[in-house]
Amino acid sequence: MTSHDTPTSAQPNDGADDFETLAARGIDESQTFARISERYLARRSLLKGVALAGAAAAVPATLGGFARESQAAPAALTFTAIGETKADTITVPPGYRSQVVIQWGDPLFPGMAPFDVNNQSAADQARRFGFNNDMVALFSLPYNAPARIGGRFPHTAYLMAVNHEYATGVGEFPDYPIPVSRDATLAPRTLPTRNQVETQMEAVGVSIVEINIVNGNWVPNVNSPYNRRVTATTLMDVTGPARGDTLLQTPADPTGTVIKGTFANCAGGLTPWGTYLTCEENWDGQFNNRNAVTDPTLRTLHAQWSSMNNAVTPAASSDFTLFWEAYDARFDLSKPEGVKEPFRFGWVVEIDPYNPGARPKKRTALGRFKHEAAQGVLNAGDRLVVYTGDDERFQYAYKYISNGRCNIADRASNDKLLDEGVLYVARFNDDGSGNWLPLDFATVNALSPGRFRNQADVLIRAREAAAVLGATPMDRPEDIEAPRDATTWRGTGKVYVVLTNNSNRTATGTNAPNGPNPRVNNISGQIVEITEAGNDMAATSFTWTIFLLAGDPAAAAGTNTSVLWRGVPTFRGDRFGSPDNIAFDSTGNLFIATDGSPATVPTCNDQVLVTPTTGSFPREVKRFLVGPFGCEICGPLVSPDDSTFFCAVQHPGEDGAIVDRSATNPAVRRQSLWPTGSIPRPAIVAVRRQDGGRIGS
Ligand code: FEO
Ligand code: CA
Repeated sequence: MTSHDTPTSAQPNDGADDFETLAARGIDESQTFARISERYLARRSLLKGVALAGAAAAVPATLGGFARESQAAPAALTFTAIGETKADTITVPPGYRSQVVIQWGDPLFPGMAPFDVNNQSAADQARRFGFNNDMVALFSLPYNAPARIGGRFPHTAYLMAVNHEYATGVGEFPDYPIPVSRDATLAPRTLPTRNQVETQMEAVGVSIVEINIVNGNWVPNVNSPYNRRVTATTLMDVTGPARGDTLLQTPADPTGTVIKGTFANCAGGLTPWGTYLTCEENWDGQFNNRNAVTDPTLRTLHAQWSSMNNAVTPAASSDFTLFWEAYDARFDLSKPEGVKEPFRFGWVVEIDPYNPGARPKKRTALGRFKHEAAQGVLNAGDRLVVYTGDDERFQYAYKYISNGRCNIADRASNDKLLDEGVLYVARFNDDGSGNWLPLDFATVNALSPGRFRNQADVLIRAREAAAVLGATPMDRPEDIEAPRDATTWRGTGKVYVVLTNNSNRTATGTNAPNGPNPRVNNISGQIVEITEAGNDMAATSFTWTIFLLAGDPAAAAGTNTSVLWRGVPTFRGDRFGSPDNIAFDSTGNLFIATDGSPATVPTCNDQVLVTPTTGSFPREVKRFLVGPFGCEICGPLVSPDDSTFFCAVQHPGEDGAIVDRSATNPAVRRQSLWPTGSIPRPAIVAVRRQDGGRIGS
């Protein structure tokens, strides 16, 4: 028995009182992250026989300010797990319901006409919710409002920030030229129109929208002064060591200090001072004509980006080639306007959701690569630590540590924390230890002149610097998240590294398995747990263990979907693959969203699983949600009162088109009708219990 999504306006009041006490909902106020570290200590004492001796030894007996006596486990996951399904809907457990909060094309400002897929323009899209939603973040209104007051959940309004990762053409426009890769019998593809390209540039980036609880549902407030779009044409400042570097200087920006736009915004994170960090991930695919670059240095620097196109023509192109360079020379590497434009992407961008007039900032101190996530947390001394990964096969996991200290009470005082600090990359040793290696030109001889020009060069070429230092090549680092106290933002010492998959992992050679990446032809992915030395988020050494190997608990040992690690089953329960982004509830339950799980479980669409962060092998994994056909699930998020689970449904019906053209083009079908019953539209979903109680219980 499942609940199904219905449009917000049609959703009846579920009767839940949003000011109801948490106790009345069965929510224990003591189960906050301020207590969680003690449970980790308890857990460590229980773990046996799985090579964790080093991890246990690194954990101190006490943690400042945390209640020693609290040994409680995360809230029990008593919901009824759902079965595998290919249904073209949101499937949730009995007793739960889902609603669409906002979907592609919905207005963000008052007085706008309903979205018309046949009448799109750049100016119109710039005032609407964008395409292919990814990360979801919530910010309290007002800033730093406490998550709870006297056991009550005080908020009925939040600012929601959402990434819009990429455009697809055939998923957006009914008359978009169809790639021959879908059907070789089709007539050669033509260029998209200028209007289509310019509309796409406004459909990517970030949306910021106020959402309110109205009659038990989350609904956008189109009258909010905070609503905003940041797109591929929004001007943003460059900050940090690479500001003004010669590689960032272009004809349009000869000082290398102001960049037009952000795109390929995948996941990201938050800072303790209430700003949004959005990550530029697969930005390289937006550029074309790489081999036309004549400068040998620039040509070499561009050569490493796997998706950067070369002389792709419409007739020979795939879905993901969008031909922005046909109408904007900065995406054409053969042109002076474009040859250095790729150095202006691949960064982490900070946006202040409370100040819609403020320019976003590209924070170059966090390095340039295919950033997937950037989550901020504080150590006990209030230094800022940001975990971020490079989502490509055999790339690396990073963290950034600020020189200065964060003051949550004084927002403006934190502006330099993301500019002045050191970026580190992870080396995982096979004995369960690990090191954070500094990408610091001033102090690391291996990065000295001859290899890199200066710190700007190290950050622009962060992948190369990480390789020089001996970082560990990973199975696609997606999300990296550290549980933290909701009020102080201090971490517990734990970090979870989500590795989506790596089918190119081979038995021998340079691509052979290593400690945290133990499987050949790894189609299912894994989650690795890091314990920072001394539980200090700013430590430069750590211990690690496998948290779980995704896959099928019924798979035979030695197969590439087996969940056994060193002979021990890492989890039991519901099978899944390709963990992508994760979120925690306030008690330490881990919500896992998948991207590509059908490669492991063909009988189920991409999904959301839940497991406690405590406990020992085999962990219990339960399926909480299954998305519509052809989607991936992004942006998992649990509201601070644990009453709502949010996620982003990206590309429903991915391999189809927005309209069915099968009468003339047999290969061009529409593969999903979610959520409108007609055209598929990426959308944000909120899941609540029908009685308003704790999610998962
Ligand atoms: Fe955009 Fe790595 O997922
Ligand atoms: Ca992702």
